[in-house]
Amino acid sequence: MKIESVLVTGANRGIGLEFVRQLSQLSDPPSFIFATYRNTDSLQDLKEIEESSKKSKLILIKMDVTRPEEIEVAKKLIEDTVGERGLNLLINNAGVAQVQMFPNVTPENLEFHFKVNTEGPLLVLQAMLPSLEKAAQLKGEGGAMSASRAAVLNMTSMAGSITNAGVVFTEDLAVPSYKISKAALNMAMRVAAAKVKDKGVLIVMMCPGWVKTDMGDRSRAILEPEESIADMLKTLSTLNESHHGSYMDRLGNLYPF
Ligand SMILES: NC(=O)c1ccc[n+]([C@@H]2O[C@H](COP(=O)([O-])OP(=O)(O)OC[C@H]3O[C@@H](n4cnc5c(N)ncnc54)[C@H](OP(=O)(O)O)[C@@H]3O)[C@@H](O)[C@H]2O)c1
Repeated sequence: MKIESVLVTGANRGIGLEFVRQLSQLSDPPSFIFATYRNTDSLQDLKEIEESSKKSKLILIKMDVTRPEEIEVAKKLIEDTVGERGLNLLINNAGVAQVQMFPNVTPENLEFHFKVNTEGPLLVLQAMLPSLEKAAQLKGEGGAMSASRAAVLNMTSMAGSITNAGVVFTEDLAVPSYKISKAALNMAMRVAAAKVKDKGVLIVMMCPGWVKTDMGDRSRAILEPEESIADMLKTLSTLNESHHGSYMDRLGNLYPF
């Protein structure tokens, strides 16, 4: 897999941070890694990667995915940097999860999750699409879809499966707004996938597994970020047009929507 440029949202901690770390350590790493954050006081880990990264240029961008004006600024910066080569990979990673159980779900809690987990990734994709399409065109009209050409990796969750809700795993019933927002994210990306089918931009929805991060709960989660992200990057490198619009785990096994 050869990725020339990648944008990772929510990159200052957790899964996003580990994506940046492992991407920068690839044997043939991206020339440009755009990593977004919200608060400058959360940049220490990213700055360490920036300093140690020899072959990749790490570009830190302040972007809240609920703020269209910040997405616009990020879009311009990325387009000015990658130019006609376009953006190869968007990792829509930023997300939130708060416990608030049915039947006490508030409109504020629902809207909060929807804004960050559903609306945010869709708006970021729409902003980056022209640049992703440029990257796809550069690698040849009608060519095979792949992450090396142009792709969108959405961090969804198995919690977004409507088929499995309350059946396979019930602990996540504690976060109904999260589940709803991830199911809606899956739909948003299915729509996008259908619309860009002929443009060469591969879109997938992937669950990282239960990972030891602030969100995942370090004491109970199963996977270290290193393992989860290594698995996801390996799977990403194998994806092609047959996976376009698919919902899968980190190993590439399909989930029912
Ligand atoms: N960990 C798991 O077990 C697990 C399982 C399934 C799916 N996922 C998904 O994986 C993704 C990453 O999760 P994580 O475990 O790394 O979570 P995390 O440790 O809580 O980190 C979340 C990241 O998202 C950023 N973020 C939150 N709201 C944002 C906003 N409005 N705009 C921009 N960035 C925002 C955070 O930035 P700040 O530092 O500024 O808050 C942080 O960088 C999420 O989409 C999550 O749903 C995680």
